[in-house]
Amino acid sequence: MEYSIGIDIGGTKIATGIVGQQGNVRYKRIHPTPNSTNREIVDLLKQTVSEYMKLATEENINLVSVGIGSAGQIDYKNGRILSGTVNIKDWNNIDIRESLSHTTNLPIYLDNDANTFAIAEHQLGSGKGVDDLVCLTLGTGIGGGIVSDGNVIRGKWGGAAELGHMSVNFNGPDCNCGSKGCIETYASGTGIANRMREKLNSIDAGKRISYTEHPDMLTSKEVFEWNKTGLPEAKEVIDQAITALSFGIVNMIHTFNPSLIIFGGGLAEANRWLIEEVQNKVNAIGMPSLVKGVEMKVSKLGYDTGLIGAAYQVWATSK
Ligand code: BGC
Ligand code: NA
Ligand code: ZN
Repeated sequence: MEYSIGIDIGGTKIATGIVGQQGNVRYKRIHPTPNSTNREIVDLLKQTVSEYMKLATEENINLVSVGIGSAGQIDYKNGRILSGTVNIKDWNNIDIRESLSHTTNLPIYLDNDANTFAIAEHQLGSGKGVDDLVCLTLGTGIGGGIVSDGNVIRGKWGGAAELGHMSVNFNGPDCNCGSKGCIETYASGTGIANRMREKLNSIDAGKRISYTEHPDMLTSKEVFEWNKTGLPEAKEVIDQAITALSFGIVNMIHTFNPSLIIFGGGLAEANRWLIEEVQNKVNAIGMPSLVKGVEMKVSKLGYDTGLIGAAYQVWATSK
């Protein structure tokens, strides 16, 4: 069997591994995303690739490529990170192929992390055999991947499908991307935490204490827990995230006419009930002919989808 080194670079963690052609993960490691300079990430990539190559030689594993999926805007043909995501510091204008050229002779594939997620789901997961689908990864940021008529939509150089930066409110909160009211500002991990922090700052100190003594440390995980126990401000934040996602998804359905929406990322994996709420709202607000029958599912390949898709680029076939 052929194997490929996969590297999935997100805003919070970097997953690396050796992945087989059937999507089987043979080795896997998780590192926190270094947050000082891009040099550190590049060094981590070099070190990982040379370690896995050594391992493959020792264990007779037939490695055929290195596949990278990264958050940010990626020139996939030239293997360059153009303007990286604001969720990763200093991840801009890096020639990944050139950087790894002294480490390996294997062909190097590079694409946006949510695009590689879509590749994995389309080739091996819930999207297998489905020609028109939209993927949304809900994590530190919100990523998008689109398959239309059997092909991944990449636009001119690979920057298409930045679905997390679809605005649903032009008076909404400032987004890192420069726009306002992007779905990422309401429904990503960082967005949910930021909106909750705003709420806590606007209520009186006594009530705030019933939530937390450290509003600056809170994460979306706490907000989901508070929502479950019925705390009203947290419920407002989560309801708003569901509404923002639903309007965004309606826009996506109206634009791409998909038959399936696939959700992934830590936030969707940990809160599967969200999907049903979104589905109901989408059905209530979208054009009936378009939203009717659109299925919504959580990624079949689970937490490893991004890693598998990154490795899988070399084998991915489209129409
Ligand atoms: C970035 C995307 C990325 C997504 C998920 C967003 O903030 O703009 O490029 O796919 O986060 O990592
Ligand atoms: Na994308
Ligand atoms: Zn944005």
